[in-house]
Amino acid sequence: MLKLRNIYYHPSTSEKPILKCISLDVKRDQPLIISGASGTGKTSLVEVISGLVSQNKGTILYEDQIVTKRQRREMCGVVFQFPERHFIGMTVAHELRLGQRRLPSELQSEVLTKVGLGLIDISEFPERLSGGQQRRLAIAIQLIRRPKILLLDEPTAGLDWSIRDEILKLIKHLSKENYMIIVTHEPEIFSSWNITNYQLEAK
Ligand SMILES: Nc1ncnc2c1ncn2[C@@H]1O[C@H](COP(=O)(O)OP(=O)(O)O)[C@@H](O)[C@H]1O
Ligand SMILES: [Mg+2]
Repeated sequence: MLKLRNIYYHPSTSEKPILKCISLDVKRDQPLIISGASGTGKTSLVEVISGLVSQNKGTILYEDQIVTKRQRREMCGVVFQFPERHFIGMTVAHELRLGQRRLPSELQSEVLTKVGLGLIDISEFPERLSGGQQRRLAIAIQLIRRPKILLLDEPTAGLDWSIRDEILKLIKHLSKENYMIIVTHEPEIFSSWNITNYQLEAK
């Protein structure tokens, strides 16, 4: 279980606290959906959990051990909203290798197959892929790091209906193998899943 206890986050750049007294549990076999209107702190919560920013108060525990910000950075794979806007690699292969000391080809093909890109030409420019393939690639880039926790911020934002269903299917499949946290402003699309919903309220 991943546990958040009394998380309070008030960066000095914000007039008001962004997150107040957040306590929640994430189970391995049950994705956590973080929902709430725009501006309620969903992305900030992802940033705190994944150790990209520091909470001012509160504790995060992974399997009953306190995990530091640095440990959480290591453990978490974050796919931000519109990840395809941040591709900087010249090719799909280059994009997958960014930040990796070495990338065994078996791991590369295992991950690409897992996200449904097993037949892709890895010498292709990422921007030449379809919208759905780009989302899959962004997920693959995180899976290469073998994260214990996968966090997805608005994973279906901006996708056509048909592609959205494909991506949801992939996410559901991946949630069987990872702790998963999904941010969405449309929790209805996960209503048939076995999930926990945590709704952030406007302040
Ligand atoms: N580092 C920061 N400094 C100041 N304000 C911030 C900072 N990060 C987020 N905010 C503000 O906090 C609120 C919540 O932001 P965010 O976490 O992006 O919400 P959401 O993802 O739910 O739309 C917004 O009003 C945003 O402008
Ligand atoms: Mg957001």
